[in-house]
Amino acid sequence: MTIWILGATGRTGREIATRVAARGGTPVLVGRNADRLDKTAADLGLDDVLVTDDLPGAIARHRPAVVVNTIGGYAETAVPIARACLPGGHYVDLANDLVAMPRLLALHEEAAAAGGTFVTGAGFGVLGTEAVVSSLCADRPTPSEVRVDALPSVAIEGGRLGEALAESIVSGLTSGGLRFEDGRMIPTRLAADPREHALPDGQTAKSAGAPTGELLAAHLSSGAPAVVSTSGLMPTAPVVRAVLPLVGSLLRIPALRRFAVRRLAGIEAKPAPRPREYSWGHAVVTWADGTSREGWLRAGDAMDFTSNAAAEIAVRLARGEGRRGAFTPACAFGYELAEAAGATISWE
Ligand SMILES: NC(=O)c1ccc[n+]([C@@H]2O[C@H](COP(=O)([O-])OP(=O)(O)OC[C@H]3O[C@@H](n4cnc5c(N)ncnc54)[C@H](OP(=O)(O)O)[C@@H]3O)[C@@H](O)[C@H]2O)c1
Repeated sequence: MTIWILGATGRTGREIATRVAARGGTPVLVGRNADRLDKTAADLGLDDVLVTDDLPGAIARHRPAVVVNTIGGYAETAVPIARACLPGGHYVDLANDLVAMPRLLALHEEAAAAGGTFVTGAGFGVLGTEAVVSSLCADRPTPSEVRVDALPSVAIEGGRLGEALAESIVSGLTSGGLRFEDGRMIPTRLAADPREHALPDGQTAKSAGAPTGELLAAHLSSGAPAVVSTSGLMPTAPVVRAVLPLVGSLLRIPALRRFAVRRLAGIEAKPAPRPREYSWGHAVVTWADGTSREGWLRAGDAMDFTSNAAAEIAVRLARGEGRRGAFTPACAFGYELAEAAGATISWE
């Protein structure tokens, strides 16, 4: 049950470590700075720590049962770290972008042959909508169209935004808008299709097209050839939507991208309560005969759901549960995983 938490001094790393311990797992806090790691260990009341600058090397030497990667930069960090878990070890990350996720999922055969399970997208971003799609499609034929909307509500802790999150935000903008048509991912306008949602609790939330991992997960878990995905984190104001494609193109220039990540990472956020009581994942699934079903996932703070989901997956993998290969969370464990992470799913 030894579960390494990479990036244990970070926002999600700390929370996942606590929740792994609460579920009976043995978290080892892994980081690159001994002082920060010791302080985190003391704060959390956990004492297994490991300091290293060579994560793949340390994993290959110590052979933990499961590695949870919260260091971010998944397009570069996921594959070498996941591969180091083989043979026989398992890997979990919180990626939610369309560069990193396909790279990890491409290791499916390699992981299966070496007795490992790799799970990518183990957070509200991906599982929050994938679970709804998967529940709507259970025991049904393949649908023709799926639409997913991720509407997280998150309290701001305050403090420096950090490079891991800054890198995720910037990479979301650089890939441009994307959607599935005829089973293929094709370009579309960034922040296309803005919507205002009437939420089941009577509140409202806005979203617009976002090229995130939810798009790929909705396609994989439904098999639908046409998929669109939107996010509440995307700007919906017409002026911002108008300039966003240009900003995305500029951020593809490596020097500008590095500059943007650095500046964004250094931003000091002020603490703020979450804007709505609930985070929502929404999906509408349509079949070729014109029938359509709609469902909602309701969770509290999306960061709490993320930490619960990642801890739940890690502990299940440490117990030897799950199929071998590389998967998105609901493809590995079914949509009930989201309920085990504290969410409620309902259908209309
Ligand atoms: N899918 C989802 O729903 C979801 C939800 C939440 C977060 N996320 C993603 O999860 C990741 C972590 O987010 P966070 O808010 O926890 O970030 P964070 O607070 O900035 O924490 C990042 C941690 O990773 C460590 N780290 C960063 N770069 C590293 C490197 N190159 N080598 C070793 N350690 C490194 C940092 O250690 P130091 O103390 O040494 O800097 C820190 O402990 C981000 O990519 C974020 O986008 C996804």
